[in-house]
Amino acid sequence: MSLVRANYGNETNGFYADETNGLQRGAEIAHVGMNEASPVQSDTESKANFAPGWYVAAASADVTSRPMSFLLNGLPLVTFRDSSGRGAALLDRCAHRNAPLSAGRVIEGNIRCHYHGWEFDGSGTCKAVPGLCGEPEHPGRRVPSFACRDSQGWLWVYSEPNVTPEHEPYEIPCADQPGYLTIRERLEMPGPLDAVAENALDVPHTAFVHAGLFRKNQDRKAIEVVIRSVEGGVEAQFIGEQRPEGLAGRILAPQGGEVFHWDRFLLPCIAQVEYRLSDRSHIIATTALTPRTPTVTDLFATVAVKAPIPNLVLRSVFRPVAMRILRQDMEILRRQTEQVARFGGEDFASTEIDVLGLRIKKLLREAASGRVSGPQDERQIKMLV
Ligand code: FES
Ligand SMILES: [Fe+2]
Repeated sequence: MSLVRANYGNETNGFYADETNGLQRGAEIAHVGMNEASPVQSDTESKANFAPGWYVAAASADVTSRPMSFLLNGLPLVTFRDSSGRGAALLDRCAHRNAPLSAGRVIEGNIRCHYHGWEFDGSGTCKAVPGLCGEPEHPGRRVPSFACRDSQGWLWVYSEPNVTPEHEPYEIPCADQPGYLTIRERLEMPGPLDAVAENALDVPHTAFVHAGLFRKNQDRKAIEVVIRSVEGGVEAQFIGEQRPEGLAGRILAPQGGEVFHWDRFLLPCIAQVEYRLSDRSHIIATTALTPRTPTVTDLFATVAVKAPIPNLVLRSVFRPVAMRILRQDMEILRRQTEQVARFGGEDFASTEIDVLGLRIKKLLREAASGRVSGPQDERQIKMLV
């Protein structure tokens, strides 16, 4: 059987398309060789590991009956809505002569290829072969299809073709709940998923990249960080932190006080930051990360905020600050990504205050290889913030 790889650049996305249009996962798993226990660690090799599961493809509102192409870990997919308004996602490759289906049109709920007019429904079944006297439906004329769900403002796509997922997409806490202002944003971030997730959950950079908005590099105080396994991922809890003095902290908790803060990574793609700044202020920022290529990851952010100020004021002040923070992260990620490319790979040294970065890589590596290791022992460290 001849196998055709779906390639981007020199990398492979781990999928192989065979001549019967089935897709199989490749088994190329890099061993990164990291040891979380040692205080100084080195990571000389890195390779993006793609964990199967639900990923956000787009904002639900952006998916219409107009076909839209997108990459999921290098694999070209096309998404559209069928006649009942249900989202569909197919491999963006016509079963006939492989023209991109995204260049076609949706006719009565089926996507029609613009080359010879073959039509496929949302499940990838061939429904029309113009000019053919016999039946259009045939197993060899199917296009691989990917499960889709509209949930909480996003269209989620399951990464494995032709399967019924065993669970539903991640449910974003507090989104659209009474008392919460909910903001959604999509940003294209430079870098692989693990780098973007680490950046979203990394405390030490905030005093530098976001100086003035968040924390400062002075008057540091020791806090405790507890790192524990949670269902499907890892959580870091920060104990003893005072409200940050920067603008973001002042908006959310004008009265100051102790901050309750958790950072979480949940497989395959969720990075979540939660702050409780008093019983009246709560912010939970959930980002769903979708790898497009080895160096581009889309960030779909849902930020739910409750604060003791009117929503209108909150929106007009909070949103610009949040966007400024995200743009600053985008810029440093761009520089990091360029450096990694310039030097031909990562060569990272880490300390224990790089709280979640190595754990994220490990979780992704294990999930990509189908291994599930049990929960790790809780760890506690000290950090100056
Ligand atoms: S390539 Fe699509 S119909 Fe021929
Ligand atoms: Fe940041």
